[in-house]
Amino acid sequence: MPHKQVDALIAKYGADIVIAAVTPMLEDSRVETLESGLNSKLQSITVVLENLYDPHNGAAAMRSTEAFGLCDLHTIDGTTGTFKAAKDVSAGTGKWIDLHSHETSLACAQSLKEKGFVLCATVPGATMELEQIPVDKPLAIWFGNERDGLSAEAQELCDHQVSIEMHGFCQSFNLSVSVAMFVHRLASKRRAEVGAVGDLSDERRRHLQARWRATGIRGLSHIIERHVSSLTQ
Ligand SMILES: C[S@@+](CC[C@H](N)C(=O)[O-])C[C@H]1O[C@@H](n2cnc3c(N)ncnc32)[C@H](O)[C@@H]1O
Repeated sequence: MPHKQVDALIAKYGADIVIAAVTPMLEDSRVETLESGLNSKLQSITVVLENLYDPHNGAAAMRSTEAFGLCDLHTIDGTTGTFKAAKDVSAGTGKWIDLHSHETSLACAQSLKEKGFVLCATVPGATMELEQIPVDKPLAIWFGNERDGLSAEAQELCDHQVSIEMHGFCQSFNLSVSVAMFVHRLASKRRAEVGAVGDLSDERRRHLQARWRATGIRGLSHIIERHVSSLTQ
């Protein structure tokens, strides 16, 4: 069952009910694996991809984002259409990450600012370098597309413009390589800053716990209904 349907059941019954209904059906080892994944998830670093063209790049960026333990990936899709990630490259990481699609860079920036994120534009040649990026607040790292880089509008909307220094003849790194390098360093610095591997809020943690435990269970809605009626008997 896809995320959306599981989330609809969580919205209807509440995370605690869903967790109580499905947990007896899971092996202990499965529960332990999912708990360890939750403990490592970092919600205060996120990635923004602006109008990507290549689904292989998108998939590779998503894979790295998930592999470093982030839980959200924002895409701006107004110009290029719905974000697509090539399945043979993403290695199933889509089920562990929340995709947020925005029509415009402005809409994306506003929504992240409202949540308290500092916006950081990655721009080859920018004078501020990766190591100088402050990690004392939640950070959204913005990446431009393969051909044009980050739009002038997106650069304006961001609080910082940063680069990774280059010493070869090539002018820029591949997009997904850039995502991996930035996220690797910044997630590590942010974990040191917060003093923990993961930083999920209690509410987010409970929601993901319910979703991850419930995903893949056949007849989920009946199982939850049966659990609910057993509580009232
Ligand atoms: C292939 S590059 C785009 C090249 C584009 N012609 C430009 O000048 O921005 C794709 C994206 O990777 C990121 N990137 C690549 N090299 C980078 C570097 N040295 N520093 C910071 N970001 C970089 C940026 O987000 C860039 O928009």
